[in-house]
This record gives sequence, structure tokens and C-alpha cells, in this order.
Amino acid sequence: MIKPHGSDTLTPLYVADDDRRAKLVAEAEGLPSVLISSAAAASAVMLGAGYFTPLTGYMNVADAISVAKDMKTGNGLFWPVPVVNIVPSDSISEAVHQAGKIALRDPNVEGNPVIAIQTVESIESLSDSQRDTIINNVFRTSDTEHPGVANFAALGDRVIAGPIEVLNYSYFPVDFPDTFQTAMEIRASIEKMGWDKVVAFQTRNPMHLAHEELCRIAQKAVDADGILIHMLLGKLKPGDIPADVRDAAIRKMVEVYFPENTVLISGYGFDMLYAGPREALLHAVFRQNCGCSHLIVGRDHAGVGKYYGAFDAQEIFDDLPEGSLEIDIFRGDFTLWSKKLHKVVMMKDHPDHTPDDYIFLSGTKVREMLSAGQPLPKEFSRPEVAEILMKYYQEQANA
Ligand code: ADX
Repeated sequence: MIKPHGSDTLTPLYVADDDRRAKLVAEAEGLPSVLISSAAAASAVMLGAGYFTPLTGYMNVADAISVAKDMKTGNGLFWPVPVVNIVPSDSISEAVHQAGKIALRDPNVEGNPVIAIQTVESIESLSDSQRDTIINNVFRTSDTEHPGVANFAALGDRVIAGPIEVLNYSYFPVDFPDTFQTAMEIRASIEKMGWDKVVAFQTRNPMHLAHEELCRIAQKAVDADGILIHMLLGKLKPGDIPADVRDAAIRKMVEVYFPENTVLISGYGFDMLYAGPREALLHAVFRQNCGCSHLIVGRDHAGVGKYYGAFDAQEIFDDLPEGSLEIDIFRGDFTLWSKKLHKVVMMKDHPDHTPDDYIFLSGTKVREMLSAGQPLPKEFSRPEVAEILMKYYQEQANA
């Protein structure tokens, strides 16, 4: 199986030993604590679950800027997006300033339980110009209409750096007991299936026909033994379909339309950044950590609005220094319904088609139709998937 990123083995920061974890949970109650952001809590989950191997914790300002500008940490590790614990200055008590170790409280779980213990290496101020540098490099825009930019800009101005030990996986195992998995668990499943080549499909949407066919086309093209459908379970922007509805739709689609034992369905606990190309690189890093040989990158991968070109997230892979990643990408072209062939195809495979020969499909269009109470046509969505989505939208409308 493909090696983890920058390491021979996964380096999960979750404290797996029950006794030691129980001791740390008790110890954490006596430590000065900080209520962290949802983004930092999600990073703790990713660090805990081996997805962010080989990082050991949150970056300091120098590392965050180096990652934002040059996509590598101070010690030369390829990494595309800063992993930081940034909080407002007024949320740091004097006790936290004095402490060597602090407890990080989870904003996403009632009562704000401690999600991780951090050894504090530094607490630094983040200047406006440093924040701008990070935002402009990671998101390619400083427009606060961009949901990822707005989120990052609102985090605060104190950067708490240092290694962490993770005590739980936040709300993900409770809310998604069948779907949330660690990178270790995914590697174990791949091994159990006896798969060598595995193509990962990143998604934050219920899978409509274009997504489904993209998986099939990619599997065939790279001759993969199996597909990992790996959905984001964390926070999204308003209007995106919630993870439980999406999970149900994806499971139904796989059950009905894919041969048995060819697809693993799984989810990871991270908030959407909408960072387009940079997020595609991060997606590749953590799918390599899951044991996948390929990641599908299609049209406007991890994008939002009109901030990124349709294939920017593929092109960024062309310019990476040699040896940055071991995982390869499958480049998905526009995938859409052909009126001529009565099926979903990839545009570049059909040079004989004119634009009029296609029906353009997109998750956004599907959401618009559902919001307007319109049934989804067969060119958009499987009937079983449409039924689940329509039920959700009707419940929303009646709420
Ligand atoms: S993402 O934010 O998680 O990337 P989404 O779930 O919509 O969003 O997309 C999942 C993957 O499918 C991405 O690689 C995206 O580029 C690809 N994709 C979605 N729709 C299409 C399409 N119509 N044509 C080509 N690629 C697509």
C-alpha cells in the first residue's frame, strides 16, 4: 500500500491507550483551558485520526506563513494549508499565558469538553499583514464574501503553537457512527478488501449522476481495485446539504448502482475550507494517508462561487516540486448528460458533441431545483437519491 505522507507509518495523535487517555482526561480538568475555533477542533480530529500525518500539532506563525507561501513547513515538509490554533486575544487568560500545557475545549459539543491537550511552544500575535499573506496565498482572494476567507479572518489574532494529544473525535463518532472513520481504519479496510490501487472520491454533496459516473470512469481509467467515497462530515456554508442527508443518499446510490465490494463509504471530520486548489492538495495528502493511490479531481474541486477556474485545482498539481506527494490524481473533465448517447459522459471523450448535445448538471443546480420544490429529472439524479433529497427539502420547507 502507498506510504503515508512524509512518514513510514501513520502518526495519529489520538491517545489510543485507554488508561493513559483516562489519566489525561482527568489531568485536563486541572489545566488552564481555551475555547478553540471549530476549524482548530476539526484539525484536532484530523491530527488525531492520522489524516494529517506526519504533523505533530498546530503550526507557529513562521510555519503557517511558509506553508501559505511555499507549501512547506520550516523543516521542509510539503504541506498545502496552515494547520493552526488561532483564538481571540481576550480568550487567553493569564493562566494560559503562564502554562506549559493547556486544555483545548471543543466549541461543537455541548458543555465544551476538552478535545485535546496542547503543549504550548509559543503564543504569538498574528499581524494584519501576516493574516493577509496567509489568506491571499491559501484562498487566492481576500474577499470576505468567500466563506473560507470570512471564517479565517474572524478567528482572532493569537496563534497558539505546539504539539497536541487528542482525547476524542468531537461529535463525529456520535453523529456518524457508521460513517466517521480514521485513516487507520480506512487503511485496514483497504487491506481487508485486498485492494492495491484505490481511487478516492472527495465529496461534500449528495452524489448526483455526474459524481457517480465520474467514480466509474476514474476507476476504469486508473484500473483501480476499488473506490473510496470519502465525504466531508464537518461544517459547511449555509445552503449545502447536511452530512446525514448526504450520507443516506450516497449509501442508497452505492447499494443500488455499484457492484458489491467495490466501494468503501467513509467520512472524515473536517470543516470545508472552500480553498479550491489548495484544498485539493490537502485532500490528496490525507487520501494518501488513507492508503489511496489516486484522488479524483474534477471540475471546480472544493471551489465556491466564481473564485477559481474550473481546472485550477488540477493545474496546481502540475507545478509541485518532485517528491511532494506519492498519490496521483485522476483529472475529471466536465462530466454531464449527453442527449445523443442518453448517458453521463466526460466531455473530452466526445469531441463530436456540440454544447447543445449536453444537459449541464451541477450540485448547485440540483439544490436550486430542490429548493424550488421541483422534481429532479433522470438526467440529474437517480430516483432513489432524488427521493431522499426531496424528503429533506420538503421537511425544511415545512419546518
Ligand atoms: S467538493 O467541494 O467536495 O469538491 P463536490 O462534492 O461537488 O464538491 O465534488 C466532488 C468531486 O466531483 C470534485 O472532484 C469535483 O471536481 C467533481 N465534480 C463534481 N461535479 C462535476 C462535474 N459535473 N464534472 C466534473 N467534475 C465534477
